[in-house]
Amino acid sequence: MTRTDSPTKTPGAGPAVATPQRRAFGVDVGGSGIKGGIVDLDTGLLIGERYKLLTPQPATPAAVAKTIADVVRAYSWTGPLGVTYPGVVTHGVVQTAANVDKAWIGTNARDIISAELDGQDVTILNDADAAGLAEERYGAGKDNSGLVILLTFGTGIGSAVIHNGKLIPNTEFGHLEVGGKEAEKRAASSVKEKNDLSYEKWAKEVTRVLVAIENAMWPDLFIAGGGISRKADKWVPLLANRTPVVPAALLNTAGIVGAAMAATADVTH
Ligand code: BGC
Repeated sequence: MTRTDSPTKTPGAGPAVATPQRRAFGVDVGGSGIKGGIVDLDTGLLIGERYKLLTPQPATPAAVAKTIADVVRAYSWTGPLGVTYPGVVTHGVVQTAANVDKAWIGTNARDIISAELDGQDVTILNDADAAGLAEERYGAGKDNSGLVILLTFGTGIGSAVIHNGKLIPNTEFGHLEVGGKEAEKRAASSVKEKNDLSYEKWAKEVTRVLVAIENAMWPDLFIAGGGISRKADKWVPLLANRTPVVPAALLNTAGIVGAAMAATADVTH
């Protein structure tokens, strides 16, 4: 028998064999667009281009499921598939629809999307949970252990709680009552826009929400996500809460990457 490894090598270290790249497909469902792409799970980077289709209006479960399937089919993808949803999802079933078509409530999103894709397995998870998973592993939280909380500031406020890499799914801090008002009605970025608030005024509202959360959870780090995190230098320095706040790093790929992660790991329920 011919030896291919050198006798000076560490025992057990055989000839170099390329480890297959771990890949999964993620789809991020948003109010205006449905975006998908193939994710390299070793790096958290997209392989190739991301593909985006407009979210159908009205965004009913059937119409959205069809569009998700169109995005997946554009790549002829048949491997692990994860999809985000902007509300609570337990065991594939949608439980809430704060800022989306109410027809979603009670729908088995996993089954209707799977049916559009010849029975392909689908994992569905909350949009902020997906972003949190991605940011914690590859983005703004990657050098932090302990308890990390990501908040997304957009139309509403989404939240993700991750402890040493493990997600506690479906936290809904955007719906906490803070000073007699729902957190997302107080401090979502849509509230800033609607009421034409200055960064100073809006940062005060965000601070109230962060203080309420940190007093209950004592996180090591907050990650601020959502579109407005691109302008983090304008408002993160104005925050007056206790826990450090860092802006999200992955921005528009976090949902896709987190959905792909969820498709291959036991991070949802
Ligand atoms: C929903 C969350 C969602 C967030 C961001 C909130 O209104 O309740 O589940 O993560 O909006 O889309």
